[in-house]
Amino acid sequence: MLNIKKTKLHVASALLLGSLMGASSMSFAETLKLSHNGDTKSPVHKALKFFADEVQEKTDGDLKVRVYPNGQLGTQRESLELLQSGALDMAKSNASELESFDPAYGAFNIPYIFRDREHFYRALASEDVGQKILSSSAEYGFIGVAYFDAGSRNFYTSKPVHSPADLKGMKIRVQPSPSAIKMMELMGASPTPLPFGELYTALQQRVVDGAENNIGAVTTYRHGEVAKYYTRDGHAMIPDVLVISTKTWEKLSDKNKAAILAAGKDATAYMKKIWGEYTEEELKKATKMGVEIIDVDKDPFIKAVAPMFQEAEQNPVIAPYVKAIKALDK
Ligand code: GCU
Repeated sequence: MLNIKKTKLHVASALLLGSLMGASSMSFAETLKLSHNGDTKSPVHKALKFFADEVQEKTDGDLKVRVYPNGQLGTQRESLELLQSGALDMAKSNASELESFDPAYGAFNIPYIFRDREHFYRALASEDVGQKILSSSAEYGFIGVAYFDAGSRNFYTSKPVHSPADLKGMKIRVQPSPSAIKMMELMGASPTPLPFGELYTALQQRVVDGAENNIGAVTTYRHGEVAKYYTRDGHAMIPDVLVISTKTWEKLSDKNKAAILAAGKDATAYMKKIWGEYTEEELKKATKMGVEIIDVDKDPFIKAVAPMFQEAEQNPVIAPYVKAIKALDK
């Protein structure tokens, strides 16, 4: 009798434990916080939402990603610092900002290193370049997950720029990155590092005479309201990069890690498609805003920054990537 009672008790507690475990494994469904500095109308926000949906789907809801846009959780630099300490899980930054955290990203920031968009995509996909760089930063507290197209970077200014000579004496906002500063000095302008979120006001108040970026900065971020000339010298193609904290990564199951990487690949492909369409539309919008699109002879710009290429070939961290990128130019 006593035994039966005991058995009943065991069954009951086993059932209770089972239901508790069920409940707790549900509440274990983890939500990763992802920070970025883009507008909700920007293609990168759409690509990150796409990524979040894919992660949820591929893990059957076990892992979720919540996207915080507009620099709500800090500038790109602040987000990276939070990531390193484990206070934030994921962030979208770009190769220019990341160069200060992992010098390997500097390979992408050498002006005119890519012949065209196809060359750029070959380098991102290459095991010897893009894929190796993504995994090169684990020791610095973050791991690269995926690249996103961020177009080609061009000057936009309050006075027309046709050649580097026109940049002389102009204060041009750059990203807080050694390569960006160097490039601007070689072009003859005076570089002013600022976070992206402070740029509209800096342009408006004439703290700077211009900046450089893809056409979306002019339209989606309305910088074209205050800088009326867009010079298509195409000096750089700097990818946006989605990264995850090493601390978060190490806590994830193998299945969830695989889902994140697969979702990253799909999001890169999705962005490739929407970026092309976006750029065409935004160029038309810029013209409608009264921004003059200036096409230039790129040679004087290329010559001005040539020393950076030579320096990179001597830099032990970057040189192997530069060589591999060159080999992909065919
Ligand atoms: C691009 C890039 C952003 C970056 C910005 C900048 O728009 O996608 O990640 O913040 O350039 O110039 O700061």
